[in-house]
Amino acid sequence: MSMRIIGTGSALPAKQVSNEELEKLVDTSDEWIRERTGIGCRHISTEETAASLAAEACKKALERAGRQASEVELLLVATCSPEMALPCTACQVQELIGAEHAVAFDLNAACAGFLFALNTAYAYISAGIYHNALIAGTEVLSKIIDWSDRGTCILFGDGAGAVMAEQCESGGILGFVQHSDGTRGGVLACGSRNLENPYFTSQDFMPYVRMDGRAVFAFAVRQVPASIEEVLEKTGIEAGEVDLFVLHQANCRIIEGIAKRLKADPSKFPINLDRVGNMSSAAIPVLLDELNGQGRIIPGMTLVLSGFGAGLTYGACVLKW
Ligand code: COA
Repeated sequence: MSMRIIGTGSALPAKQVSNEELEKLVDTSDEWIRERTGIGCRHISTEETAASLAAEACKKALERAGRQASEVELLLVATCSPEMALPCTACQVQELIGAEHAVAFDLNAACAGFLFALNTAYAYISAGIYHNALIAGTEVLSKIIDWSDRGTCILFGDGAGAVMAEQCESGGILGFVQHSDGTRGGVLACGSRNLENPYFTSQDFMPYVRMDGRAVFAFAVRQVPASIEEVLEKTGIEAGEVDLFVLHQANCRIIEGIAKRLKADPSKFPINLDRVGNMSSAAIPVLLDELNGQGRIIPGMTLVLSGFGAGLTYGACVLKW
């Protein structure tokens, strides 16, 4: 028993912020940002929340799949920037879309979150526990970014993407690999809430994202191709047989580096980060939805999805569309 994606959806905040606008906030330039990252613009929430964006993306995915919210059995939301600590974003989305019969919960694996949620749904579905799943990645990273830190504020954007998936006899997801390395968690980190109670108050609280960009870059160009090679070997598929590599959208230079290491045709690595920046767990499902909407993914195609991020977490999956 396997699982296949039958619908995709996405939602972006209305406000777009160009590199030129960031020049007014920090000492940076459009030229520097484009050259080092490939990013030209990103969407930033003014009133949209992680839950409202995810709900919009989920509704579109259901519509494209021709399914009703009431049919959803499992609702997973990957996010590292939820609006609320309680309830979880998935339960908020459940209410917003009316998926009253779904079991709903969140999963946080940062930028690999959507991929990890997809694999979680795959595990439930291939075990026969649930027959379908709605899986979203949603982020409002703009609230955990230090807008005076030019090393990070230029990179990230807000948005959400979702897929509707269901059980199938064959095809669909062919294989998965996932990895976590908590020993290197410090290279990309952000505090949650300060430890503050009648008995203790922490002094060294870090409320915003802090990153060693070079270390993250080096990790991504080494581990992502290694995990893609691992999943290709596991599924017996040659890199040349893959039609599209839908990768986490962090930096054009990282994607070029990965294509080079895999000796794969760079035109098979679609990019949208020039328009949306790095949206963490929303990046892969938003790109999938764009490609699907443009008719660039057709039945029978072989896709590799791969994500990496804070944790450190990374992984890859091969699927037949
Ligand atoms: N505008 C202008 N100059 C900037 C800048 C900005 N936004 N950010 C940093 N700089 C400066 C630095 O201060 C440094 O100046 P110095 O040489 O005078 O000290 C110089 O540019 C080079 O900085 P460095 O950090 O070495 O640049 P880089 O080539 O490594 O690029 C990143 C920085 C962040 C773009 C790059 O390391 C990267 O993309 N890393 C991966 C990050 C990532 O994807 N994180 C999310 C993972 S999910």
